[in-house]
Amino acid sequence: MTDGIGSPERTPEIVDLVGKPINEIKGEIIHKGKAKLVYRTTEESVMLMEFMDDATAFDGKKKGSISSKGMYNSHISAAIMRYLNQCGINTHFLEQMEDRFQLVRPLDMLPVEVVIRNLAAGSLARRLGFDEGDSLERPILEFYFKSDELGDPWLNRYHIRALDLCSDDEIVRLEEDSWRINAMLREYFLDRDLELIDFKLEYGRAADGALVLGDEITPDTCRLWDISSRDKLDKDRFRHDMGEVEEAYQEVYRRVAWED
Ligand code: TMP
Ligand code: ASP
Repeated sequence: MTDGIGSPERTPEIVDLVGKPINEIKGEIIHKGKAKLVYRTTEESVMLMEFMDDATAFDGKKKGSISSKGMYNSHISAAIMRYLNQCGINTHFLEQMEDRFQLVRPLDMLPVEVVIRNLAAGSLARRLGFDEGDSLERPILEFYFKSDELGDPWLNRYHIRALDLCSDDEIVRLEEDSWRINAMLREYFLDRDLELIDFKLEYGRAADGALVLGDEITPDTCRLWDISSRDKLDKDRFRHDMGEVEEAYQEVYRRVAWED
């Protein structure tokens, strides 16, 4: 459960929704992602997000399911978003509901993913010839275009402007906020004996036009390694058929969300 500290505006409408069963507040589906669904609620200013057990990789080419992932991820993301809210980052997160559901603010999502890399892994290692876990002289920030058809291609600021995905000011905000979030998350995970190798963020515009952090922060969207054993505790276990996939999510859940 959540005490709402740091959550943006715990308005009477939100308090009212929190007390109701999911089936009473769940409206039509307005967005179907690969691992999440977003529903309208009886309140126009509040959406309901459902975290599914479905898992995909390589632009949806690999498909599967990870038992209890939806529940683990919903609680992990809630704990992290609450922490970021408390640190002064505007996020869409409002309240954790039962099991795999959370209340979030409606956002008009930008079709841009921001990836920050503290160590080399994944596509960076493949593209530039690093070994997994190689250190970098300094962390890297990258943009990707959210488009399964195009295979989420890499973008730079000029591509973003040429495609008119967001303004120059918004690009600056995306970069500044993402670097701040990286510093906060590295410390947060280190306190839990996890090293944040890399992660992906998505932002959207709120009704007043402000950029707000949306989506999720979970082992689906971060690479997290145990600080001493360097065991991978994230979706790479699913991507590369490494086994003990559910156990990895459960372990991150244990370290991150149990204190809530
Ligand atoms: P990459 O090394 O495959 O480019 O991934 C970098 C980080 O971004 C990694 O933590 C996983 C995350 N990520 C997503 O959340 N969604 C995606 O579609 C991809 C490709 C990566
Ligand atoms: N989430 C992406 C997909 O389903 C890629 C990934 O995470 O590896 O295709």
